[in-house]
Amino acid sequence: MTSSQTWNPELYQARHSFVWDYGRDLVGMLAPKKNERILDIGCGTGNLTAEIAALCGEITGVDSSPQMIEQARLNYPQIDFQLIDVRELPFEALYDALFSNAALHWIRDAECAANAMVRALKPRGRMVLEFGGKGNIAIVLDAAYRALEFAGVEAPERLNCWYFPSVDEYTAVLEQAGMRVTHAALFDRLTALDGGPEGMSNWIRVFGGMFLKAVAADKHAAFFDKLNEYAAPALRHDDVWSADYRRLRIAAIRQ
Ligand code: BEZ
Repeated sequence: MTSSQTWNPELYQARHSFVWDYGRDLVGMLAPKKNERILDIGCGTGNLTAEIAALCGEITGVDSSPQMIEQARLNYPQIDFQLIDVRELPFEALYDALFSNAALHWIRDAECAANAMVRALKPRGRMVLEFGGKGNIAIVLDAAYRALEFAGVEAPERLNCWYFPSVDEYTAVLEQAGMRVTHAALFDRLTALDGGPEGMSNWIRVFGGMFLKAVAADKHAAFFDKLNEYAAPALRHDDVWSADYRRLRIAAIRQ
């Protein structure tokens, strides 16, 4: 999570449990061991950090959002959570493994983040990462751009702060930072959203703050109407909204 986005942890926890529900599978791929020290990057409200904590020796969860870290500490007071941006990780060869679910798409400066993550790993340490990959939420973005233009926002693509790389692009980023990639996959995961008819609007409220900020307050209702209208044919079935997530999943070992 980034500090430029203001997070609402209550809404995130209440309506977006699919984030850590899907992340459970990734914990299986990490396969934490009892004697290991693990770093969870972009830990959010700490739900997956707590699941990994039950399986490993020691864990630290880091996130650049003060709201998320505050909520994570309230949720799991026994776990070490620290307010740190991944690009500024101060750790040197401390961790056996590094985990990150649904966070790295917030970091455009991927080389800087990768270098800092690799530094935090012991030699031969591993990382298991998943985040939005090339083509992620293409339908949501197309509908949002059109709705933004309708609401008077020019060149709305410039507001997109996310990083959705291809397998080749991100493999190159990790390899230049000193990792050997052992698994890389890009796959679609159409994801049902909570909130019934409000599902898509809630998603934008929680994750798309940069879009909403650009819309004049008296145009918010029109923006949401158009967003829903444009996205509905592909992403609404009866009263259930989905997001067209496409995940990039990578495992790698420090050389
Ligand atoms: C994602 O998990 O793919 C995602 C979440 C929030 C904003 C953008 C992408």
